[in-house]
Amino acid sequence: LLRIDQIDVAGKKLLIRVDYNVPLVDGVITDDLRIRASLPTIEYALSKGCSLILCSHLGKAKGVPDPKYSLAPTAKRLSELLEREVRMAPDCLGEATRAMAAALKPGEVLMLENLRFHPGETAGDMDFAKEVMSMAEVYVCDAFGTAHRPHASMVAFAQVAAKCCAGFLLMKEWQFLGEAVQSPTRPFVAVSGGAKVSSKLGVLKNLLTKVDAMCIGGAMANTFLAALGHTVGKSLVESDLFEAAREIMDEAKKRGVGFYLPVDFIISKDAGKPISEMQPAGQVPFASIPDDAVVLDIGPVTAGLFALVLDPAKTVVWNGPMGAFENPAFAQGSYTVAHIVAGVRGLSIVGGGDTDVVVHQAGLADKMAFISTGGGASLEFLEGKELPAFKALKECQS
Ligand code: 3PG
Repeated sequence: LLRIDQIDVAGKKLLIRVDYNVPLVDGVITDDLRIRASLPTIEYALSKGCSLILCSHLGKAKGVPDPKYSLAPTAKRLSELLEREVRMAPDCLGEATRAMAAALKPGEVLMLENLRFHPGETAGDMDFAKEVMSMAEVYVCDAFGTAHRPHASMVAFAQVAAKCCAGFLLMKEWQFLGEAVQSPTRPFVAVSGGAKVSSKLGVLKNLLTKVDAMCIGGAMANTFLAALGHTVGKSLVESDLFEAAREIMDEAKKRGVGFYLPVDFIISKDAGKPISEMQPAGQVPFASIPDDAVVLDIGPVTAGLFALVLDPAKTVVWNGPMGAFENPAFAQGSYTVAHIVAGVRGLSIVGGGDTDVVVHQAGLADKMAFISTGGGASLEFLEGKELPAFKALKECQS
């Protein structure tokens, strides 16, 4: 796997696949982490006198142009960050776009329109790939957030490109989520949360083979407690996963991995209401959850327990919030864990998606060693899977 500074790109026309699938509210970007994370590669390429064609997807566009998924707001934001013009192409292929790409001079940047406006992108189509790639000399993949998708711009582009390489972001994700997890400095502790065991099963199983201890929070802790025979009131549980949950706990015991579930919770009695309307109804120990209660956050005793487990850690991977943090009444557990993880003396690695939002809301982004830009991609990476983008780059010709 070659990084952009390991091949000769000077003066060349590069096509850089970025992941600018950013959250937008009424056309306004509410989190530009992914755009800022792409700057090292873009700035390096500009310093080498390259001309740049950037491409990405945004949202779930269905293979046809859809103005609400235009990448124009991302081009504008990138232009502000780079303090130079970023032109917006009308499409990602076609005559007008091709003419704009052909006219690019060294130091100039062109943003292509959403790749998913064409069905060839998600279908992994070779002809689509050839047409887009023919505008550039080198393919650079820096879209870690999409690395788990076998789409044209992630796989076929690398296959048809004369030269290809990885950008700095892709390699950084590889280094932190890949290498640090494969050969961690010990003790290595994982903190896992989020709503569902089902979405984390692969991650938990893989991390169990690597870590010294694991702390579980979020609604998925309910499934583990219920699998042990505890009542969890009206809380979310996945009863079809009790067996899987018990297997995970048995495996932890067999491996000598410390496995820590919450010992107290913040509850609500507003079962059935939207989370944003639920009111807290106090703190209870795990063995005394009332029948009419919903567990919505870990309690302070649990946070103290997790702090003790994390104290000696030299490597921490945190993935998934500890509670329903979208309602401030149930965000304290997640914020406290964010402070604990930020305070560890070792390497603190944060998975993307919701965990990234928690860390930013807690104002601790600068205190973490690394925050992944991937949601689904970082989960699949932590499951130990080989992601299609990495496979394609390893196999490509340069
Ligand atoms: C993400 O945000 O997880 C990536 O950009 C991939 O987006 P997708 O789930 O629409 O493929």
